[in-house]
Order: sequence, then structure tokens, then C-alpha cells
Amino acid sequence: MPEAEEAAVGPVVNILIVDDDPAKLIALRAVLEPLGANVVEARSGPDALRHLLKEDFAVILLDVRMPIMNGFETAEMIRQRPASELTPIIFVTAFDQAETNLGRGYELGAVDFVFSPIVPAILRAKVTVFMELYKSQQELKRYRTQLQGLVQERTTALTAINRELEAFSYFVSHDLRAPLLSIDTIAESLLDNPEVVSDGTKDQVMRLRRTSKQMMALFEGMRTLFRLTGGDIRRQKVDISRIATEIIAQFQAQEPKRQVDFRVEEGLTASGDAGLVRILLTNLISNAWKFTRDKPQPVITIGSERVAVETRLFVRDNGVGFDMIYAHKLFGAFQRLHSQSEFAGEGIGLAVAQRIVNRHGGRIWAEGAMGEGATVYFVL
Ligand SMILES: Nc1ncnc2c1ncn2[C@@H]1O[C@H](COP(=O)(O)OP(=O)(O)OP(=O)(O)O)[C@@H](O)[C@H]1O
Ligand SMILES: [Mg+2]
Repeated sequence: MPEAEEAAVGPVVNILIVDDDPAKLIALRAVLEPLGANVVEARSGPDALRHLLKEDFAVILLDVRMPIMNGFETAEMIRQRPASELTPIIFVTAFDQAETNLGRGYELGAVDFVFSPIVPAILRAKVTVFMELYKSQQELKRYRTQLQGLVQERTTALTAINRELEAFSYFVSHDLRAPLLSIDTIAESLLDNPEVVSDGTKDQVMRLRRTSKQMMALFEGMRTLFRLTGGDIRRQKVDISRIATEIIAQFQAQEPKRQVDFRVEEGLTASGDAGLVRILLTNLISNAWKFTRDKPQPVITIGSERVAVETRLFVRDNGVGFDMIYAHKLFGAFQRLHSQSEFAGEGIGLAVAQRIVNRHGGRIWAEGAMGEGATVYFVL
């Protein structure tokens, strides 16, 4: 059947009927006719097994009493084959319930028994259930295959993009950095040469140097960002409280005069790559440290919040804050809400943080208000 036609009416469902008596096969086929399935006949156990090798069946109707290989023996063989180990079997038997070894049948994976004389409506109802089940399973299988294809496609696309990024990163860090460095060196030598640089132009040369340094810092930031694309994530239990305390000590050591009230919740942990989590926390604490600079009583909190089943970690400060309208921009590379003259920076810290969180399959977001501080939440 062509694919379009098949999609309209649904896939054909096969039913296997096994009986050594041709008359009973004819009778069964007549009963099943209205269900619209493709009924396949087998005259013996071995014959049934041959069909099972070639095709998939929604359900097997199996006569218990057959020569050569009886129904139970056939069922045993059916179950041993991976392709048919889960195919539902309904035993058809002329014996009444008391005489039939129901226990043995169920042990062999029978899902049901029908006793002759067969009541057509009941048999059809039972078979219909398995046909529906089979159709649902096929549909699920199709979705799964589709999904796998999609994932494969996306992965290929992503790999290609990553490769391009890597090439670009190499270009930025090697090919662009070198000429910039020589501009800076020339500018530096000019400053050492008072005959060439007058007092009037000295200021301009110094600005030139500052700008080239700023560009180099931007390149460095880009390199950091791209470096995070590759490499494997090695997840382990990470002691967030300890790492945060160590990072804080570093900031304090760099500016011992600053008085900041640091509050680190005890026992904070996360499952992540220890090295990357340290970079993530450094970037968040660095921002909190920077943007509380002008507060008379700066407070920086590293803590957690439990919402439903998830634990969110956060870095909170009572600094200058930001306008929530621009919250979506913060995590973009080189995006800054504050001017260079107010607060220095490249606008790379949160982009790095987001990349690290993404690599863990987590989420990161920021909340804040102008003049009222900011909180950056993340889940790994
Ligand atoms: N704690 C915070 N309080 C207020 N604004 C913040 C805070 N954290 C980030 N921002 C805003 O988001 C922007 C981007 O932050 P990000 O860390 O990426 O860059 P940066 O700190 O400016 O520079 P870099 O981190 O590269 O040195 C900042 O320039 C600032 O405007
Ligand atoms: Mg930053």
C-alpha cells in the first residue's frame, strides 16, 4: 500500500491463526473478517513459526491441540524468539475450562483463552483490544524513529556550527591578536620617544593604547567563551559553599579595604563539572562584587531556594541592580547595561555563565530592579 494511503487508513494489522483443522481456520477467518485485519493462516506449530520469522503480528490465535507440536509447545518456541517474545497469544481450545491446563498456558505467556464453541462477538472484542494496542505501539515506534532522526539532524548541525566557532575563535585569538599587539607595542615605543610625541599628542597615543588593550581584553573574552564549547563535562558532587567561600577570599584579597557582608549558606552542593562550576560562580560573584561597589553596606548572599522538586542556587546582591526590561540581554556576549566609565567590563561574564549552565543542560536567569540589587539563579 502506498505510504499516503496507509497513513489515511492506518497501517495494516496482521493476525496469525494457527489450527491443524482447515474447517476451523475458515470459521475463525469468518469471525475476524469484519475487523479488517490481514488474517494469516498456519496449519501447524512449525508453520506458525515460519510466518513469525517473516512478519509482525498484533495477536496470535493458537489452537491448543495439534499434532507434531501442540499449542503450548508452539507458544514456548514463539516466546524464545526475540521478535515475537512479546506478541500476545490467545489459546483457542475445544476443552472446557476445567480440563485445560490454564496455569501452564499463562506461564507460557498466554494473554487469554477462548473456548469453543467460539462466541464471535467476544472473540472479536478481545482481538480488537490487541489490534488497538499494536497500532499504538507502532505509532510510538514511528514517533521514536522520527525523534531519533531529528536529534541526529540537530546534532550534525550543531557539530558543524561548533567547528565553525572553533575556527573563528582560532582566527580571533591568533590572527587578530598579533597585529593588535604590534600596534600597542609601536604606541608604547612612541611614548618613550619624546622627540616624536609632543605633549599635545601624548594623550591621543595613550588613548590608542587603552583602546587596543580593551580590544585585546575582548578577544580574550571571546576565546574564553569559545573554549567552553568543547571538552567533556565531568559531573560530580560539587561543594558550592566551599568554592564560593574560596572565590570570595580572592576578591577580598585583591581589595582588602572593601567591606562586604558575605553570606554563604552552609552545605550547598550541586552536581556538575567542578572546574566549570568554579568559573560560573566566579563570574556571578565578580558581578555582585562589582555592582555593589558604591553601596554603603553591601551584602552578597550565596544561597538556595527549593521550588517544587528543583533546588535553585543563587547569587544575590543589593547593588545598583538593573531594569528587568533588559533582563533577556544580560546573557548575550558583549551585552552590557552599564557604561564602561561607570563599571568596567567586557560583557562576557554572564555569557560564559550561561554557556556553562547550558552545557550541563540547566537553566540560568536574572531578576533585579534599578537601585535594588540583582539575583542570578541557576539550576544545573
Ligand atoms: N549583579 C548585577 N547587578 C547589576 N547588573 C548586573 C549584575 N550582573 C550583571 N549585570 C549587568 O549585566 C551586564 C553583563 O554582565 P557580564 O558579567 O556579562 O559582563 P560585565 O560584568 O559587564 O563584564 P565581564 O564580566 O566580562 O567583566 C553587566 O554589564 C551589567 O550591566
Ligand atoms: Mg561580569
